[in-house]
Amino acid sequence: MIDFPRRNITTEKPFRINFVCLGNICRSPTAEGVFQHLVHETGLDLYFEIDSAGTGSWHVGNPANSKSQAVANKHGIKLLSRARKVESSDLEYYDLIVAMDHSNAGDLNSMVVKPEQESKIVLLRDFDPDPDDGAVPDPYYDELEGFQVVFDIIHRSCQNLLAELRKDIK
Ligand code: 4NP
Repeated sequence: MIDFPRRNITTEKPFRINFVCLGNICRSPTAEGVFQHLVHETGLDLYFEIDSAGTGSWHVGNPANSKSQAVANKHGIKLLSRARKVESSDLEYYDLIVAMDHSNAGDLNSMVVKPEQESKIVLLRDFDPDPDDGAVPDPYYDELEGFQVVFDIIHRSCQNLLAELRKDIK
């Protein structure tokens, strides 16, 4: 298991987690919706605060990509977030910043102003039992099948991430 900052998670101090990709319309809204769904399924809503953001600002205010929504809907998951750009305050506010690929992680690392912020930045596929090159591939120019592949990667990685964080729930 990779090293990331851990603490006791309680309803008084929910764990704050922010999923980050480039546009905040495909991968990170999917991760936000999937993680929220898994948390809800296990009755743990009060223990987590979940959001997503993008390192780019092209799509700010937009809903998730229609193909991301279609695949998520097929699995009974609604993607309700609107795109926003990640802010330097996110690195302070959130307990864990989960980047979708190495480029996202690099952009986030360039925003770091304190060492403890750097340790909060992880890759989602650090939690994937089959991590390939460590990146959730960018599906933006793909057909629906590419979005399904991305959904599957995100889903199994989020399951493992939640399994890990549940150990810290008191
Ligand atoms: P995302 O996908 O980072 O998973 O939301 C992308 C969305 C938009 C663009 C690139 C990737 N774009 O270049 O506009």
